[in-house]
This record gives sequence, C-alpha cells and structure tokens, in this order.
Amino acid sequence: MKTEEIISGSNKYLTPNYGRSSIALVKGRKSAVWDANGKKYLDFVSGLAVNNLGHNFAPVNKAMQKQMGKLAHVSNLYHIEAQVEYAKALVGEMGKGKVFFCNSGTEANEAALKLARLHFSQKGETGKTEIISFNGSFHGRTMGSLALTGQKKFKKGFGTMLSSVKHVPYNDIAAVEKAISEKTCAVIVESIQGEVGVCVPGGMFLSQLAKLCHKSNVLLIIDEVQTGFGRTGKLFCYEHFKIKPDIVTMAKGIANGFPMGAMFARGTLGDSLVPGSHAATFGGNPVACAGALAVLKEILKPELVDNVRNLGRYMALKLTGMKSSAKKIKEVRGLGLMIGVELNEPGAGVVSACAEKGLLINCANENTIRFLPPLIVTKEEVDKALVIFSKIIGA
Ligand SMILES: Cc1ncc(COP(=O)(O)O)c(C=O)c1O
Repeated sequence: MKTEEIISGSNKYLTPNYGRSSIALVKGRKSAVWDANGKKYLDFVSGLAVNNLGHNFAPVNKAMQKQMGKLAHVSNLYHIEAQVEYAKALVGEMGKGKVFFCNSGTEANEAALKLARLHFSQKGETGKTEIISFNGSFHGRTMGSLALTGQKKFKKGFGTMLSSVKHVPYNDIAAVEKAISEKTCAVIVESIQGEVGVCVPGGMFLSQLAKLCHKSNVLLIIDEVQTGFGRTGKLFCYEHFKIKPDIVTMAKGIANGFPMGAMFARGTLGDSLVPGSHAATFGGNPVACAGALAVLKEILKPELVDNVRNLGRYMALKLTGMKSSAKKIKEVRGLGLMIGVELNEPGAGVVSACAEKGLLINCANENTIRFLPPLIVTKEEVDKALVIFSKIIGA
C-alpha cells in the first residue's frame, strides 16, 4: 500500500484515539525503520520502549518461530512448558517468588492491585484496600490502572474513578508517610516517571519508600513497564536503588514487540492468587514466552547493559552540552537510554522536524522530548541522531 492509502484506511477504519503522525511504517531492521515511500528513519522511539533489541532481532524471531511450529496457544487449564522455562529464568534473576503472566502493562498493574487487596483480605485484614500512588504517574488505561494514574488529562470524560486511591507528590517521602493509614494495602510507584517527562527520583527516595512500606505493613509495587528489560542499564531500574519490591509489574520490552505482560510477586505473596481469583486467556502465551526467554538471555549479556550505560551517559552529556547554545533546552534528565530533554516550549515541532530529517523521537509530555533508542544502538547512530537534533534545536 502507498502511504496515502494507509493513512486514509487508518482514518476510515480505526478509532481515532491515537494522535498519529503522517508517517506509515512498514519495515524495520536493528535501529532503523522504513516508511511506505521507502524513506529510512533512525528509530529512537523503539515502539515506546518495546523494541529494546531493535527490529527483526534474529534470536527472538527464531525462538518464536520454533515455538509457533510446536504450539501457538493452549489454555491455562493445562501446564505449559514455555511458561515454566521463562518463569524459571525470570524468577532466577529477581529472587524467590512467583510470576503471573498477562498481555500488557495495564493488565500487569491490574493484577498487582488485585493481589495487594486479596493478600490482606485473605489474612482477615479486609479494611486494607487503599492504594497510594503519585502525582504525574502513568500506570495504564483500564479503569483500575487509570485510577492509579496521577494525571487528570487521562481521566477526563470517564466518570468516577476507584475511590480508594490517594495521590501524593513524587519524590516526597514525608507526604507518603502522612498518607499511609491502617487502610493502606500498597504503594505503587514508577522507578522513573516516564510519561510525565522522564522524571528520575532523588537518590534516596525509593529506598526510603521501601523502608517505610516495610515498617508500615504496606506492599511496595514497582511499575517497571517502561523502565524494565535493560532500558536504564540494569535488568530493572529499581536495582539502581538497591531495593527489593514486593511486586514488580512489567510489559513493553519483555518480548521485543510481541504483546506480553507480567507481574512478579516476591516470596509467597503470589500464592494469594488462588484458582479462580484472577486469569487472562492469552496470559503466558507460549510464543510470547519463547520470545521473552530469548530477550532475557540477550539482556543478561554484560556487553548489552554496558552499551546502555556508556551510550546513555554519552548521549546525556552531549545533550546537556547543547544547553549553552540552544536556549530552548531547559533540562536534560534520564538514566541509561531513557532520556528526556525538557524544552521551554512545546516539543511537537521539534519531533516533526526531526522526523523530516530521518530521526524518530517523541514527546513524553507537551514540553519534553523523549529519546528511547534500541539498546543495541551504535555510537555512530547516536552521533547521527545528535547531529539531526542539534540542528533542529539550534545548538
Ligand atoms: C509506567 C507504565 N505503566 C503502565 C503502562 C501501560 O502499559 P500498556 O500500554 O502496555 O497497557 C505504561 C505505558 O506507557 C507505562 O509507561
């Protein structure tokens, strides 16, 4: 199909809930994607932190194709080999615990929310139903995760939200302490707030939060949906802060583009999900699990996370260096290959001008440009992207 055909079909047959650009992508390889006119772009969006190993990554493709030829789907009424292989490897990296598989980030957070309540309810503490979340957070679009989300713009028009969620300022441990009561069952937090503009917590915040939750008989849920799977230079971003959350939710980069989500529950916590308490028909799909195992093996290679740390530091330094000549730049924030450049003005014009020159980036809120290159990106590609960006930004 030609670009115009794809765009008109998209407008005619798909609900208009995405603010799409006029680019129609048809092919990808490593850090590059091509549109329907054959134009090549450097992809520093990576499907919004999904294609962490780049496009068309052979070992993942191979693992999924092999599984596809064996068994594409069976019900969770049965035990599934590919689920066990992946869960064993994942739990092996995260410490003792159990995994629930689903299909997306919002579903992983819904599972966490239900598990937190169920855990206390089973212990007879039925009043412990409140969740504390943070202003500026993003946890997904289904009604539970939307209630957890700390940004009004996503809730407009959807009526009454779950009433048992309290939002407090991010990075403010005193505010959390004040908000916790005997009714609190959990605190949910992103280890970097992505959607509000790549906001990295202060050095001690997450460790203080972990201690506070532990002391208060409250579960700590870390949402690693965007920050997980090597994005920040560790398998999970919370590892930078030396904490052991009770529950970790993940999705996006888990299977490099194949839909999947997961919730890890530490120790015996996951045993609260007794038969019938929760489910997902496609959760733990064998093809997704085979892909996820191939992803995990790759991310655990030291050279991959080294690349993230080295090029992440390099990019952040270069972008910070542009501040002196480009007055539009207010602040550069991030960790590893998750970098936000806050501008003094809306970033949409910069995003489309960069796309024109062959670089795909996006805005994480109105004023913040977000760079999410694949973790396999090379220094040459980073330099190329920086040249395009610096010209557009006037550095
Ligand atoms: C931190 C975080 N949590 C949850 C979600 C929701 O994930 P999904 O779109 O897979 O439901 C996102 C998506 O951007 C996210 O960034």
